[in-house]
Amino acid sequence: MAVCIIYHSETGNTRAVAERLAAMVGGDLLAVRDLAGYSKVGMYLKGAPRAMRGEAAVIEPATIVVSGYETVVVGTPVWARSPTPAVNAVINALAGIEGKAAVVFCTSGGMPGKTLETMTAMLAGRGADVRGAVAFTVRDVQKGEGIESLVDLVRRSEKELVVQ
Ligand SMILES: Cc1cc2nc3c(=O)[nH]c(=O)nc-3n(C[C@H](O)[C@H](O)[C@H](O)COP(=O)(O)O)c2cc1C
Repeated sequence: MAVCIIYHSETGNTRAVAERLAAMVGGDLLAVRDLAGYSKVGMYLKGAPRAMRGEAAVIEPATIVVSGYETVVVGTPVWARSPTPAVNAVINALAGIEGKAAVVFCTSGGMPGKTLETMTAMLAGRGADVRGAVAFTVRDVQKGEGIESLVDLVRRSEKELVVQ
């Protein structure tokens, strides 16, 4: 069963979760870059307001074809209690997502707001069947905690697909 794990990460936390997940369930990892190329201060001054407004960034790669996968995982850092503009763009850029199982996760300082609900609604709007969502804190990432619930969601979704 093929899993595609797509993520945006500026300071490494979301990447760490994505890489641990890939090590445990297999699948392909895809890192997406925001071509705005924010500085540390720029992330707060420009990136966070854009995230709050729900804007989509210009990203590389611009199109993400997921038709060859059974499950698509999307991971985001939380910016201003929202998904990042890069991840909003990821969800818009997914080609072949209709009818696929999806799982979302975020990493944050502990105040994710409605980030996961927003991603879930956006993916459902693209026709994905969202199976679940997991929020990690930076502390979880540093301690390597919480990954089992994400692994479980992906494995369970894969099993259900086999039964159907
Ligand atoms: C611009 C910006 C805005 C942030 N906003 C929030 C927030 O609203 N709530 C929160 O808990 N953490 C917030 N954080 C912390 C990040 O969500 C956290 O450090 C995350 O793990 C970063 O992911 P990354 O290392 O993959 O880039 C923010 C960080 C940045 C840079």
